[in-house]
Amino acid sequence: MNKKESDKLISSLLQYWYAQHKRSLPWRETKAPYVVWISEIILQQTRVNQGNDYFLRFIERFPDIKSLAEASEDDVLKIWQGLGYYSRARNLYTAAKQVMEKFDGVFPSSYSDILSLKGVGEYTAAAVASIVYNLPYPVVDGNVFRVLSRLFTIETPIDSTIGKKYFNEIAQSILDEQHPGDHNQAIMEFGALVCTPKQPKCTECPLQSVCLAFEKKNVLNYPVKKGKTIQKERFFNYFHIEQNGYTYVKKRDNSDVWKNLYEFPLIETEEQNDLLKLQENSGFSNLFHSVGEIYFQHKLRLKHILSHRIIHADFYRVELGQYNIFDIEKKFIKIKSASLFEYPVSRLIHKYLEII
Ligand code: ADE
Ligand code: SF4
Repeated sequence: MNKKESDKLISSLLQYWYAQHKRSLPWRETKAPYVVWISEIILQQTRVNQGNDYFLRFIERFPDIKSLAEASEDDVLKIWQGLGYYSRARNLYTAAKQVMEKFDGVFPSSYSDILSLKGVGEYTAAAVASIVYNLPYPVVDGNVFRVLSRLFTIETPIDSTIGKKYFNEIAQSILDEQHPGDHNQAIMEFGALVCTPKQPKCTECPLQSVCLAFEKKNVLNYPVKKGKTIQKERFFNYFHIEQNGYTYVKKRDNSDVWKNLYEFPLIETEEQNDLLKLQENSGFSNLFHSVGEIYFQHKLRLKHILSHRIIHADFYRVELGQYNIFDIEKKFIKIKSASLFEYPVSRLIHKYLEII
């Protein structure tokens, strides 16, 4: 068997397996570009099981490009709440406006136009172009890296520039150009269900006979990675202030984590502090300087893990009397405590709101 024949065999085996085993998922019922696009953006960093509910809610609330483009950013973030990687939601919203303005409200149909949309990278463009428009672009996501690295025992690290280029070439060469959408979904689904990271189901795998890593009995050594990302530790101290049925929040505006989500007044420290230590912090005296007696209660300590950060968070409930705290009113938005739940917040804040 030459290379071309073996590439073809791999794709046939994958598609044959996919036809029999694919999960029936709501976005697989349609070829509507808007729907496929939303699903692929959600699935980029979210597992199918969790993504499913969000997908259904999103499509119900924003059934088409126009409704998404005409929403408010807060509404879009609110629907996304809990899903993480919020830049995806902000970008979807921006992209919907781009489609309205640049493409007359019609989702673009060429790879380069799709790629020009905000938040759409090579992966998403290839997925939408192949699934919806049958264009011969291979997807390369985490599943594809894993499957290809094992099938061909590729030693090039997946987190290197050369690696990305190399995997892209291999993905292109095994792509079934007649059925790129099915081929792409088959390999991703296969990676998610059979050729899984920790306990791949090699004994029942239909590609066993063509898999080099299986032959060499070193499946778990693939994919090869150059280095793990280091997670920076950060320490957040949040103050849930209660004053006559009102509380204070702020929209995060820096380019840090959780941009445009709301949160309580925050003091970030270099290490984990208790209240006594916190009171020595200049941020603390800035926040609470103009009032006399304040009652602080430590409510919750959480460790929250994000892709590049570990956030240690302490939550304090702060009871204020009738005092007018001038500085707080200047820096924060005063809202009815009961309306806290209407604001888009991070999953971390959400965990706190669940216990109060
Ligand atoms: N992961 C991301 N998109 C997918 C798709 N369309 N099918 C299977 N797994 C996926
Ligand atoms: Fe993946 Fe194992 Fe199948 Fe090879 S034999 S493709 S490692 S599941």
